[in-house]
Amino acid sequence: MSHLITATNVEKYYGDSGQTTKALNRVSFEVNKGEFTGIMGTSGSGKTTLLNMLATIDRVSAGQIYFEDVDITKLNEEELAEFRKKNLGFIFQAFNLIDTLTIDENIEMALSLRDVDKATRVKEVAKIMEQLGISHLKNKFPYEVSGGEKQRCACARALITEPKLILADEPTGALDSKSSTKLLSLMEFMNKNLAATILMVTHDAFSSSYCERILFLNDGEIFQELYRGQQTRREFLNTILDVLAIMGGQADAE
Ligand SMILES: Nc1ncnc2c1ncn2[C@@H]1O[C@H](COP(=O)(O)OP(=O)(O)O)[C@@H](O)[C@H]1O
Ligand SMILES: [Mg+2]
Repeated sequence: MSHLITATNVEKYYGDSGQTTKALNRVSFEVNKGEFTGIMGTSGSGKTTLLNMLATIDRVSAGQIYFEDVDITKLNEEELAEFRKKNLGFIFQAFNLIDTLTIDENIEMALSLRDVDKATRVKEVAKIMEQLGISHLKNKFPYEVSGGEKQRCACARALITEPKLILADEPTGALDSKSSTKLLSLMEFMNKNLAATILMVTHDAFSSSYCERILFLNDGEIFQELYRGQQTRREFLNTILDVLAIMGGQADAE
């Protein structure tokens, strides 16, 4: 099995010598190509910090992160910008769409930044909107569509450049339960049918039950790794809730 990511003993401290917070402590894990992985933990457990390390938005304090054969913790700023552009797609809680552009223009933007010619851009945008079932949003502005529709647009924008890895930080965080379910089903579809490798950070057990595998973070450390295997989504949700109960129980005992 070829690993897309191999993280070894990743540590992250915030602050100066006077007052430091250890946000990640010796975090090691792998992500395989084609996986839909969840990173689950309560608020403050280090999820966003870990995602930012993988996204190369912020630097590790110690440890290595290999992306295929390259240790991305060793890249300089210029190499990092190139790395992100070539390999990563992002879906954020806050949508991050440009208000003055229509939905299709927002998706097209990802290609414009990569010097793709206009005719190809238009064709690719139409194709991805069709695949993700959002063709009817063409020509609409972000303020004219729902939060759920915005987030499906963000999925199209993340996917259109065919990144090796899609990073999603609490993508259902601003959505109601119906829109969340629809988005998670779409992400599952992207993973199963469009070969997207997805790493999703969430504090929500329901959201994480759509993943194939979950890494539980507790106080900046990996507490447990869980595979869905042959379980139905409902069964997996119950397993996840059991782990959370054990994690919560341990935290209470401290
Ligand atoms: N920029 C920062 N400066 C100082 N401390 C931070 C910073 N970002 C996060 N932290 C701290 O690191 C820990 C992990 O935070 P974070 O990764 O945001 O957790 P999560 O996303 O799981 O809620 C928390 O204790 C948080 O207060
Ligand atoms: Mg967070």
